[in-house]
Amino acid sequence: TELSKIRNFSIIAHIDHGKSTLADRLIQRTGGLSEREMSSQVLDNMDIEKERGITIKAQTVRLDYTAKDGQAYILNLMDTPGHVDFAYEVSRSLAACEGALLVVDAAQGVEAQTLANVYQSIEHDHEIVPVINKIDLPAAEPDKVKAEIEDIIGLPADDAVLASAKSGIGIDEILEAIVHKIPPPKGDRDAPLKAMLVDSWYDPYLGVVILIRVIDGVIKKGQSIKFMQAGTQHLVDRVGAFRPKIETLPELGPGEVGFITAQIKEIAQTRVGDTITDVKRPAAEALAGFKEVQPVVFCGLFPVDAADFEKLRESISKLRLNDASFSFEMESSAALGFGFRCGFLGLLHLEIIQERLTREYDLDLITTAPSVVYRLHLRHTKDEAAKTIELHNPADMPDPNRIESIEEPWIEATIYVPDEYLGPILKLCQDRRGIQKNLTYVAGRAQLTYELPLNEVVFDFYDRLKSISRGYASFDYHQIGHREGDLVKMNILVNAEAVDALSMIVHRSQAEARGRHMCERLKDLIPRHLFKIPIQAAIGGKVIARETIAALRKDVTAKCYGGDATRKRKLLEKQKEGKKRMREYGSVSIPQEAFIAALRMG
Ligand code: GTP
Repeated sequence: TELSKIRNFSIIAHIDHGKSTLADRLIQRTGGLSEREMSSQVLDNMDIEKERGITIKAQTVRLDYTAKDGQAYILNLMDTPGHVDFAYEVSRSLAACEGALLVVDAAQGVEAQTLANVYQSIEHDHEIVPVINKIDLPAAEPDKVKAEIEDIIGLPADDAVLASAKSGIGIDEILEAIVHKIPPPKGDRDAPLKAMLVDSWYDPYLGVVILIRVIDGVIKKGQSIKFMQAGTQHLVDRVGAFRPKIETLPELGPGEVGFITAQIKEIAQTRVGDTITDVKRPAAEALAGFKEVQPVVFCGLFPVDAADFEKLRESISKLRLNDASFSFEMESSAALGFGFRCGFLGLLHLEIIQERLTREYDLDLITTAPSVVYRLHLRHTKDEAAKTIELHNPADMPDPNRIESIEEPWIEATIYVPDEYLGPILKLCQDRRGIQKNLTYVAGRAQLTYELPLNEVVFDFYDRLKSISRGYASFDYHQIGHREGDLVKMNILVNAEAVDALSMIVHRSQAEARGRHMCERLKDLIPRHLFKIPIQAAIGGKVIARETIAALRKDVTAKCYGGDATRKRKLLEKQKEGKKRMREYGSVSIPQEAFIAALRMG
């Protein structure tokens, strides 16, 4: 295809502002799907995405559009994942485009996440076309939103397209704006092949499918290609595009977006941002911007029923086939038995995987407290030199005497919130050891910038933020490196024995409050036994909080076993069932629910 007839664009939108609906509408208008096939949203193809209404994996479609000038164009819509956890993937999708539609809800206005993505888009030199969506809503205020786009983002919004993706208003204007405002790609057909790996996923029939954007050169079936970062070579066995149905093509040339398959079995070999080149005539340099993605939040996943361990192993392995960004290794816990220590890109990523395991694979799971990656500087000992280690699991914390210092990851967060909720949000950030960097007001809303330790955010920061602001606050963050902190490991002791699954790393200033909270929770969650059970939170040998579960009185049990035969049998059955769900810990039985509930902060 001629470069001048190609347009590559993405859609930037805050969650729920109508990205998927608009994408579907564009597909429909350009003839990709019939009315009947449109009945379900096409781009969000995973159930969980549909239910939670968020886009997780990027999908891309090629649209054929004959413009009002009579010319036929190919429009490649690159879908981008809509969450901060997937910021790197977003950056690669954006790098594959020349422009973007900025979709803003006419009733909600500009939100923090929109801002973050728009700035990224501007960094990629994109031409941005503002679209004000949902103008059919009675609460729509298109003029106010236009002013916001100009004041807050600094983009001219005079000729923003007013649209309703739901009722089909403004769709033709959007297509024309894509053709006339977004520049065509540049590229050299005669140069050595250079293509960017934008995304990949596992397909049971095709193997690993790789989404690419060709920069220079041509890619064809039968060609030997090389992944410059991974260092591997493959033979291309299929080249094509999604319209959105899969279609095989003879080749992909410069500026084009499409997919290839190359008999690759494992997604781990395909790294987002890698450069694909020709083996015989390789490009001189790889594309800039490649990054190795690293999990930042870790937690243990254990089966509630120990007999499910193998099933958990299989299910996790299967999930990993389609998501190379999450990691797992076997872990054993005295409290929870065998399970896996898993790493995720962020909390939402963690929740998605946990939910898929529960739902798609029908597993009952216990999740231990999420932890970030700490950097520990260790003193030298008689036999070992001083060294720096990364700690993913509080249970692996070395002897405190060995530790010179601990560093924790920090983030810079942007919070965007209506004025009236500002007070409580400032307090929340302050309570979480935040450092305020900036506070500005635009159009009756406050834009806050805070530096925060990531470990204060992974617990329940987002939930708290949402509940304090009744859902109006939006939140976005990126990591800004490690900083030294006064961090300690807090153990929870039940009947004088430490329960490993409940231990966590906390800032010394927060330890007492967290410890007290945890002890109070456990006191309510652990059933009474025939003896008194102390519950303690301790740092090293020092107890910082304590609760006691009183002993059960003998006559209470006696009463339980009285009564008629059926009732007795029923009780026994119930007890047996209850037993299965208990973890014997020393001489104390802790119900499964207690772990889950105790770990839920707030
Ligand atoms: P993510 O996939 O989470 O990023 O959300 P999204 O931005 O793709 O939003 P989606 O298209 O799923 O739309 C969110 C909700 O807004 C849905 O209930 C849509 O039906 C609704 N919606 C989308 N466009 C319009 C519109 O033009 N008018 C009205 N009234 N509702 C719309």
